Amino acid sequence: MASEEVRTGRFADRVAMVTGAASGIGAAVARQLAAEGARAVVLADVNGDGAAAVAEGPPASRALALDVTDAAGVDSAVQDVLHRYGRLDILVHAAGADDPEAKQRIADAAVEGRPVELTDSLDDASWRRVVRVNLDGTFHVLRAAVRVMRPRGAGAIVVIGSSSAFDAPVGYPHYAASKAGVHALAQAVAKEVIASGIRVNLVAPGPTDTGMAARTPEALRSTFADPRVRPYATPEEISEIALFLASDAAANLGAVLLANGGRFTA
Ligand SMILES: NC(=O)c1ccc[n+]([C@@H]2O[C@H](COP(=O)([O-])OP(=O)(O)OC[C@H]3O[C@@H](n4cnc5c(N)ncnc54)[C@H](O)[C@@H]3O)[C@@H](O)[C@H]2O)c1
Repeated sequence: MASEEVRTGRFADRVAMVTGAASGIGAAVARQLAAEGARAVVLADVNGDGAAAVAEGPPASRALALDVTDAAGVDSAVQDVLHRYGRLDILVHAAGADDPEAKQRIADAAVEGRPVELTDSLDDASWRRVVRVNLDGTFHVLRAAVRVMRPRGAGAIVVIGSSSAFDAPVGYPHYAASKAGVHALAQAVAKEVIASGIRVNLVAPGPTDTGMAARTPEALRSTFADPRVRPYATPEEISEIALFLASDAAANLGAVLLANGGRFTA
């Protein structure tokens, strides 16, 4: 679309960046930002082709291939937003990694009616991959965003954590630990940067129907069934919460919002 076109909506005139935007929650957030008037939405994902496919539909959207474990790459991507659009108003960090092999082992144990035994055989590479993407990646993204937002004295950052940080799943210690680290990191940064006009909030989803959920074996998915709540949230439901936190309506909020259908409270 022409850059001079006037766009209206909750995010009119905002410049936004979304990580993990090729799929699931990040894709829903990017679409919603564009639909609600953002002047520019940068869709970043290690899956650059996937991000490009999502960016084809909504207006004002641009995709780029970005691995959040690459600190220098994250910095230059965020600096590029600054150079192109003059500022970064909103950053939603939804990039994250699961461990399908561990999930399969949990599912196998459930099917065979035996306890999960994972920790003693969890290899270093699996541990490092999950922690690098989820925790190191969040640090890189938060740092890069604060570097460009602090000089302007404004900005809204929303991090997608996980209910696993509160209710650590058996057989998933690396994921739970990485997300607990993400929560603590986001909260510590939030308390620091609020003095510079930057809000950092976090959504902790429960089971949500995304690419990550599609990699969860059915035998494990069925263990999340709870008659009190719908089986899985939609990515759009989580996106709605994330974008409430990014919006002016949440100006007085500093929150870790648990979005798990009321399975438990924190
Ligand atoms: N789906 C759930 O049930 C659920 C529950 C709690 C938390 N979460 C969290 O929500 C966030 C979004 O996940 P989702 O459910 O939409 O899953 P998803 O797999 O659909 O999307 C995650 C996206 O992150 C991208 N990504 C992975 N590693 C990356 C990297 N190194 N650099 C950049 N991008 C990378 C993937 O390519 C993918 O597009 C994640 O942080 C996830 O941990 C999901």
